[in-house]
Amino acid sequence: MTVAALSLFAGACAQAPAVPEGADAALTQGRDVWSARCATCHGPDGGGGTGPRLNNGQVLENFPDAEDQTTVVVQGRNNMPSFSSVLSDEEILAVVRYSREVLN
Ligand code: HEC
Repeated sequence: MTVAALSLFAGACAQAPAVPEGADAALTQGRDVWSARCATCHGPDGGGGTGPRLNNGQVLENFPDAEDQTTVVVQGRNNMPSFSSVLSDEEILAVVRYSREVLN
């Protein structure tokens, strides 16, 4: 298989779910952050991998309060890295919203 075909194949499998049409820009930003920073461990669709599953309502169940979820992303926890020096507050809020509203 050629390199081009391989990367096409990887691209087809590694898509984070799209933001609904007409959603605000923060969700699109959140999807970009998710794809770049989180999908490797949590799976492109949030289905889990090295990190736990966040989709199918899991994140809403574990974090009824979004602020508690934000704290994990900011500070890290066990093998979950801290993103406070990697992402801006705005990016962290955006990715937390994406996981709650789109991965859901
Ligand atoms: C290097 C792998 C890795 C990366 C990258 C990563 N995570 Fe995690 N994440 C983990 C692991 C492992 C855990 C479980 C931590 C624990 O056991 O306490 C976790 C836990 C979490 C949790 C808590 C889940 C729960 O149900 O308690 C959230 C929320 C989360 N990650 C969000 C993110 C977001 C958002 C990003 C991107 C900004 C991200 N993670 C990037 C590995 C990762």
